Amino acid sequence: MAEYEYETHEYDVVVVGAGGAGLRATLGMAEQGLRTACVTKVFPTRSHTVAAQGGIAASLSNMGPDHWQWHMYDTVKGSDWLGDTDAMEYLAREAPKAVYELEHYGVPFSRTEEGKIYQRPFGGHTTEFGEGPAVQRTCAAADRTGHAILHTLYGQSLKNNAEFYVEYFAIDLIMSEDGQCQGVVCWKLDDGTMHVFNAKMVVLATGGYGRAYFSATSAHTCTGDGGGMVARAGLPLQDMEFVQFHPTGIYGSGCLITEGARGEGGYLTNSEGERFMERYAPQYKDLAPRDYVSRSMTMEIREGRGVGAEGDHIHLNLSHLPAEALAERLPGISESAKIFAGVDVTKEPIPVLPTVHYNMGGIPTNYWGEVLNPTKDDPTAVVPGLMAVGEAGCASVHGANRLGSNSLIDLVVFGRAAAIRAGKVVDPETGNPALNQTSVDRAFDRFDSVRNAKGGTPTAELRLEMQKTMQEDAAVFRTAKTMAEGLEKMTAIAGKLDDLKVTDRSLIWNSDLMETLELTNLMPNALATIAGAEARKESRGAHAHEDHPERDDKKWRVHTVARVDGTSVDLSYRPVITDPLTTEKQGGINLKRIAPKARTF
Ligand code: FUM
Repeated sequence: MAEYEYETHEYDVVVVGAGGAGLRATLGMAEQGLRTACVTKVFPTRSHTVAAQGGIAASLSNMGPDHWQWHMYDTVKGSDWLGDTDAMEYLAREAPKAVYELEHYGVPFSRTEEGKIYQRPFGGHTTEFGEGPAVQRTCAAADRTGHAILHTLYGQSLKNNAEFYVEYFAIDLIMSEDGQCQGVVCWKLDDGTMHVFNAKMVVLATGGYGRAYFSATSAHTCTGDGGGMVARAGLPLQDMEFVQFHPTGIYGSGCLITEGARGEGGYLTNSEGERFMERYAPQYKDLAPRDYVSRSMTMEIREGRGVGAEGDHIHLNLSHLPAEALAERLPGISESAKIFAGVDVTKEPIPVLPTVHYNMGGIPTNYWGEVLNPTKDDPTAVVPGLMAVGEAGCASVHGANRLGSNSLIDLVVFGRAAAIRAGKVVDPETGNPALNQTSVDRAFDRFDSVRNAKGGTPTAELRLEMQKTMQEDAAVFRTAKTMAEGLEKMTAIAGKLDDLKVTDRSLIWNSDLMETLELTNLMPNALATIAGAEARKESRGAHAHEDHPERDDKKWRVHTVARVDGTSVDLSYRPVITDPLTTEKQGGINLKRIAPKARTF
């Protein structure tokens, strides 16, 4: 058994991760007087939410008529009918409240002439239950909305006495023998000390696992740490096969160009200068949802109408927009285009390509953020003491495809919901549970074995193998052959975790060790993704299966539940929740009857 000295910390709640969801949860917990710690591997305002550009969806009606019921409808349709209806209703209904709270906390939103929060159009957001024109629903702080939200939430959390443990890496969850989460074991990166957090509630807000792919808009820190810990605790991941490609990553670097660019009037063209989205989505054109636009771009390139010397990308045009509008509404991406593509957006188009951006799947939860461990008899069984929010979680509001700007609102609505729920189930007056020492020891043993790994495969080499395989075989379009090959390759790649070589054995700022631990987290996420994709014999949202091009609601309107153990993935399925929370008719529509239909735009 590995011998490490450690310090024990006791809290009511420990939040792991300090992005938008983690900070909103932390703030909500602290505001209620719960003793709250936020443990984060990067400084809070460096969390990946800082990179969120275009905005946050809420039906405020500042720019024209809108209703939460329309937002809900768009989210259901956007999800390709795989989202859970109760959670999608909760998201759309609570969104305005959550945004006004942000405003009152101090988020510096852009303003209309009358001083209201400025809202822009985003893909898939419409009016009249999908029958009317596009709506301006996405609340923005120029094109730096995530940055504005993150800084505000961090300040507010400090004001409410939340305690931050910055640059602490979470190694594993502490689970009791009867399946209750009791805390988390952490490594402090800058001084090499070890820490055990004992809490009545652990909230995983660790973000997505975009870095399982070769080219992603996600920060290098997006390594699915929560999913990795959950998988090692014997708990499942859900709907991992649904990976979103953002249509406009900068060609080459993968850096994000916000969908807000198209919201403000930008459009895509092919090598013939044609605005091809008019053919694929006659009603909403460049503002169709992301899965739609990414597929359309890929088809243009495949059919020989890509731009550039190799005909392998597409142009995003902004130069027809007034220079002042670009400077006011899109200053960040104007700068990114200059730095990463050498392009002056007032004069030239930006070269773009669909790039991995978001994981619809994650740790299954209900709409309070409580983690689920579904069984045949109880598909919504809750894991006591454990929550997951933000991209790490899967509530599931995005189903098979997320609408742009529904991510930031997911972070704050469900971060807030987790805090509301914790206020009910966490009793600050009772003592903390005695920790299961076996579980603590197991975490240290794993840490020690990774630290002393003496195999023949360097971490960077194995990570690259995984990233290239995922990029090739779990792409925008997938075939039975590519996915079967991908699964075989990924199983072999995951097997090589046993042969890793860590060269630096120190405990202080050991990036070799940290990246290796991150790789052990990425791997189960990646494996679950390719296994879930290989098994799903239909096309739905971001899962475009060329051998099964139709959606099959009879067989496949179900959530994939993946349990990963080493190189093996056990798949089962749980029903999609189709009942809304509100049973009265809304705008003449019974929400229960937002029945699946062909998804055209
Ligand atoms: O395009 C964007 O600004 C990204 C927004 C999102 O992913 O929600």
